[in-house]
Amino acid sequence: MHSTDLVALLLLHAAGTYAQSPVYGQCGGVNWTGPTTCAAGSTCVYSNPYYSQCIPGGSNTSQTTTLVTTTRTSTTSTTTRTTSVTITRTTTTTPGGSGSEPATFTANPSIGPGGSSYRDSAHFRVYGATSTSAADSALNMLEGAYSCFIGTLGWRSPGLSYNDNTDSDGPWTKVNIYSVGTLPGAAGVMHADYATGEPWLEVVHQYLTIPGVTVHEFGHSMHYAQKTWVDQARTGAWWETVANYVADTYKTSPLCANARSKYGQSATATEINLNKVIGDSFQVIVDGTVDTGNYYEAWPFLAYLTYNPDGYSGLGTNALLNLFQQYSKNSNETPLHTLARVSSAGASAIVGKYWARMAYVDIGHPTAGQVFLSQRSQYNYANLDSQGNNVYKPKSARRPQYMGANIVPLKKSGAVTVTVSVSGATLSYTATLSIRNTSSGATRYVALSGGSASASVASNEEVMFVIANTPSSPILYDAFSLSSEVKNGLDYSVTISGATP
Ligand SMILES: *[C@@H]1O[C@H](CO)[C@@H](O)[C@H](O)[C@H]1NC(C)=O
Ligand SMILES: *[C@@H]1O[C@H](CO)[C@@H](O)[C@H](O)[C@H]1NC(C)=O
Ligand SMILES: *[C@@H]1O[C@H](CO)[C@@H](O)[C@H](O)[C@H]1NC(C)=O
Repeated sequence: MHSTDLVALLLLHAAGTYAQSPVYGQCGGVNWTGPTTCAAGSTCVYSNPYYSQCIPGGSNTSQTTTLVTTTRTSTTSTTTRTTSVTITRTTTTTPGGSGSEPATFTANPSIGPGGSSYRDSAHFRVYGATSTSAADSALNMLEGAYSCFIGTLGWRSPGLSYNDNTDSDGPWTKVNIYSVGTLPGAAGVMHADYATGEPWLEVVHQYLTIPGVTVHEFGHSMHYAQKTWVDQARTGAWWETVANYVADTYKTSPLCANARSKYGQSATATEINLNKVIGDSFQVIVDGTVDTGNYYEAWPFLAYLTYNPDGYSGLGTNALLNLFQQYSKNSNETPLHTLARVSSAGASAIVGKYWARMAYVDIGHPTAGQVFLSQRSQYNYANLDSQGNNVYKPKSARRPQYMGANIVPLKKSGAVTVTVSVSGATLSYTATLSIRNTSSGATRYVALSGGSASASVASNEEVMFVIANTPSSPILYDAFSLSSEVKNGLDYSVTISGATP
């Protein structure tokens, strides 16, 4: 909810304009677009997500600004989740970072408030933890995440400076994490220290060892280190999507299995919130609207790109890295525009197939499909209204918005032939019959062609109709401020025989 300051502050950073706020003036906060540095003799002190103030004292040499404040403290799902992971994928391990990366980085206590109570690991320093054991378990968790994303997946190290293009010479700075008593409205915050170009984190004590918070914030700092999505308003909301993708991948993915075990960490429950992803699948694919948007929950799309069950070119293990690296610098394009270059399949086909697979959450994620099976009775599938004569139309409030979808489970009895026919569509779409064998769990997908499809569905199979709003080329949109173009929902009529919604 606080990402508007990300956009504003990053834009200031990009422009290199450092007009200063007076002593006691505001220097940060949600929607703050004024100066983010303070007059000499004062320091910008984070107060809450809505307000940072220039306080007398300190030094402005390590001027910092709240860059991203994240991780809601409320929990959204109480359902039991599966925590075991069967590792069936092969993990490729590549050496991380540059060849000159030292085994141990250097701490810089002037990044963030510093302090005398801290614990170190090779790449991190934790200040102010309530116990040595809490600090050490956070350090092991963070090293596990570092080893996965920087080591296995080859992301740019946050030990390198944002301000520096010559990576081989370091500076190889540890990431400082401050364990604190409270952060109004947030469990964790990532800050950027503009002088050094290094990130630092604050996490509330009780969340320090919780990967959904601390690895999420570390995800922001790795994303910051990638540089190319920074300073771009249209990538702003995607920061939360990426950070939750990082936390979930760290927790669940076979890609991180070696890294986790190196630091004594186990796979844990997925962060997936299918009540939101499926229940509100009609929303714009990444919607940064405060309170009602999906930008924290939309990360399964990024997991789909990573697991790449459809074998699209350019995607797979390196999908996110490819998206970061091939982002057209300073273009302010959206990540879907980059995706259209990263994979020759094109964003529309990829998004259409993603939603077809989200019918049964068969996206290659190790445990999300099990969460789906245990929770599916709770999801809001009330997408269509009957028009009579087997014709249905989407409810006006649930018409698929830009790159969103309707997922419609169909009821049937025994073995049937299901025929669907779409007409009167107001926008380009991709529609699919998603079919699942209830005995084996295997899925198959029958794409509508020329607006219709017909499929024999056996008695031990189930079927859903999925339709996604997929324009032929990506739309430039800011997820924090949705335009009428992307909010314009796909209207259509669908005639369904052999089964009913
Ligand atoms: C930030 O700006 C948006 C758009 O003007 C507004 O809806 C929102 O309430 C503002 N937030 C705060 C905390 O002022
Ligand atoms: C620190 O203060 C000095 C004196 O006002 C100013 O020249 C300098 O730009 C400030 N540095 C930052 C990073 O704000
Ligand atoms: C579904 O899976 C079961 C168990 O693997 C298999 O025996 C059956 O033939 C499958 N049904 C269809 C329609 O493929």
